[in-house]
Amino acid sequence: MFPKADILFTRRSIREYQKDKPVGDDLVRFIVDAAMCAPSARNKQPWHFLVTRDRQKLDMLAALHPYGKMLKDATMAIMVCGDTKLEERESAIALDGAAATQNLLLAAHAAGLGAVWLGMYPRKERTEAMRKVFEYPQNIIPVSLISIGFPAEEKPRNNNFKPERVHMEKWGETIQ
Ligand SMILES: Cc1cc2nc3c(=O)[nH]c(=O)nc-3n(C[C@H](O)[C@H](O)[C@H](O)COP(=O)(O)O)c2cc1C
Repeated sequence: MFPKADILFTRRSIREYQKDKPVGDDLVRFIVDAAMCAPSARNKQPWHFLVTRDRQKLDMLAALHPYGKMLKDATMAIMVCGDTKLEERESAIALDGAAATQNLLLAAHAAGLGAVWLGMYPRKERTEAMRKVFEYPQNIIPVSLISIGFPAEEKPRNNNFKPERVHMEKWGETIQ
C-alpha cells in the first residue's frame, strides 16, 4: 500500500549466504546506526553490538549455537547485548535489545543483506559458551545473535495477517 513500507513486509529469515562476498564497513555502520535508533525504556539505550567478520569466530559461533549452523556460511554476525551498568532491569534489557534487533534486521534487509535472529536471551548456557569468543564482561547480557550475509536464497513475502487477532474497541469485535 505504501511503497516506503515494503521492507516491513518482505523481510524474511535468510539462512543461506554468498560465502565470498564480505560485508563492508559502510554497511556495518548503517545497520548498527539503525539498531541504535530503536526505542528503549526511559531512553536508556543500554545496548552494545559485538560485530565479527572473522571466519574462525563465525565457525566457533556456528558450533556453539544449537540452531546456528547457518553461521558457517555467514560473512558476519552481530551480537546485540545489554549493559546492566546502563540499565539495571534485566527485563528492560531484553525488551530494548529485541527492539534494536528488529531494527537491525530491517536495516540489513533494506541494504540488500540477508539475516536471521538467533535466540540468546535468556539462555545462560549460550551466554557462557560464547563468552570465550567475544570475552564480554559479566555486566553484559547477550539478547540476540544475528547471522548476516548477502543472500543466496529468496523467500516470498510474509502473509501473516489474522483479522481475528485484532480487536476493535472491545474483545472479539474483529476488524473488517
Ligand atoms: C527470539 C527469536 C529467536 C529465534 N531463534 C532462532 C534460531 O535460534 N535459529 C533460527 O534459525 N531462527 C531463529 N529465529 C527466527 C525464526 O525462526 C523466524 O523469525 C520465524 O520462523 C519466522 O520467519 P521469518 O523471520 O522469515 O518471518 C528466532 C526468532 C526470534 C524472534
